[in-house]
Amino acid sequence: MNVRPTHTADITDAEESLKLQESQSVIDSTSATEVAMQNTLLTPRFYTTDFDELDAIDVSGVREEWDKLIAQMVSDPNKGHFKKNEDWDHVDWDGMEPQLKKEFIDFLISSCTAEFSGCVLYKEMKRRGNNKDITQLFQLMARDEARHAGFINDALREAGVAVNLGFLTQKKKYTYFRPKFIYYATYLSEKIGYARYITIFRHLQENPQHRFHPIFKWFEEWCNDEFSHGEAFALLMKTDPKLTKGMNVYWIKFFLTAVYSTMYVRDHQRPAFHKALGVDPDWYAHEVFTKTSKLTEQIFPITLDIDHPRWQPNLEKMQKANADLAEAAAEGRFFGKLGAQFRAVKAFIALITIPAKQHKVPAVTRLEPSY
Ligand SMILES: [Fe+2]
Ligand SMILES: [Fe+2]
Repeated sequence: MNVRPTHTADITDAEESLKLQESQSVIDSTSATEVAMQNTLLTPRFYTTDFDELDAIDVSGVREEWDKLIAQMVSDPNKGHFKKNEDWDHVDWDGMEPQLKKEFIDFLISSCTAEFSGCVLYKEMKRRGNNKDITQLFQLMARDEARHAGFINDALREAGVAVNLGFLTQKKKYTYFRPKFIYYATYLSEKIGYARYITIFRHLQENPQHRFHPIFKWFEEWCNDEFSHGEAFALLMKTDPKLTKGMNVYWIKFFLTAVYSTMYVRDHQRPAFHKALGVDPDWYAHEVFTKTSKLTEQIFPITLDIDHPRWQPNLEKMQKANADLAEAAAEGRFFGKLGAQFRAVKAFIALITIPAKQHKVPAVTRLEPSY
């Protein structure tokens, strides 16, 4: 008899996981899905790319490192991990301070959308490709992201909300990115995701009184998945040295600056959430940028100078401009919006023109999670 898994944590196929999640979203929350549907500069997007170009990648130049990574992913160390168990303490949603509840739900929805965005992109690559190395990698990554999204949705369901992932797949707008931009953006989001999860996990290990929700206990194994995904993208980029040379270094700088500043602005929109965690968002940002920069040295020839005197003040200006922009938009003030947009662009230019730090990229790319 074929016993079908009943939890996304046990599923190894992203398609199946999605079907199960859809059948489970009994309480389909319209507002949660609406939040996930939003497309602004700051919200997670869905991506599509030139799948044929991706399919044509030849990994034979990095074969040894590649096979090791794939073998580790095939061994599936996190199978069954993303499931509530006795460590899942009761969550008092009704007793939660309203602002914290709002920001935390917003955090969960946006994390779920980001995880799911990875799942959709990876699943599509797996479906469209013929290259065995590539389709195998993308199937494994889609498996992980489906579990992550499913687990966050489990947590949301307890609060009476759930993101309708099937609806999102069909209705959310897809942004086209050339494969090289997918590498830079996705590689960075995997590595920064690792740095974010591990920084929160280690902080809460030392300050358990701030762990206001059980999901944080799952972050350590979670971030190891993201770490492996980042490793895979580093190897993909290594197959073509042009990707990290010449003019492309400017693109790398652009993506580093955009990803770091977006994270800064987005996190500063959740003051109650960070206060409950006992985390100063400025400290957290600096910590995450430092870790991410250290990791990305494995493949990117530059890192951002986050200790430069122009860095922090312009992040703050950008954050302020974004807050003003949201306010002006809500009040329908056209010139207020325009002014705030102008200030945001100006701050971004001040950030991106900070001279980057250069270094020599190591011959062997492979890293192990060490934070
Ligand atoms: Fe993930
Ligand atoms: Fe990932």
